[in-house]
Amino acid sequence: MRCVKLSTAGALGGLALGLSLFSACGQTESSCTAPKLAPNQPNGSSALASAMVAMDSQLQIVLEAVMADPNHAWAGFTLESHDLLALEPTDASMVNGHFTTHAPLYLQAIAQFNKAPSAGHFNAVVSACADCHHGTCPGPLTRIEKRRPQLD
Ligand code: HEC
Repeated sequence: MRCVKLSTAGALGGLALGLSLFSACGQTESSCTAPKLAPNQPNGSSALASAMVAMDSQLQIVLEAVMADPNHAWAGFTLESHDLLALEPTDASMVNGHFTTHAPLYLQAIAQFNKAPSAGHFNAVVSACADCHHGTCPGPLTRIEKRRPQLD
């Protein structure tokens, strides 16, 4: 997709055309791969991407809190789960067969952690994140691996 300045596009005749070309230039990148068009969400993150950012930061917050505690106690922590299948992705092709298989496994891992919070169950949640990402969205895998707890 070529970037056309709004003024140039306007000169080509029509504000509507100008605006659509302009938004094609201002799209956000999907963080799944190298720069990629995100045609459905020109002005921000998709609902799915926003949920992912929230999921990632809650893992980071819980992990940091547990690591800051000299006893590394996991008791009392819970993780919020998201209905990933209900959220709009940046690109419909992200919600492939791999995604639909792994979304319930991720929910199971969260439920397991919430029932019995521990380093092992937290690690299983991180694995559930990574397992889905391997087949849909490899970009954030390095970041996800940073959420691994020190297993004792
Ligand atoms: C069922 C599959 C699946 C699971 C489980 C999953 N992800 Fe994702 N994740 C995706 C897809 C698909 C995207 C791309 C979303 C989009 O761009 O709309 C994504 C995007 C992301 C992003 C990039 C968001 C951005 O800035 O655009 C991060 C970070 C991320 N996931 C972290 C996580 C973490 C951490 C977990 C576990 C708590 C997790 N993911 C679980 C499929 C999954």
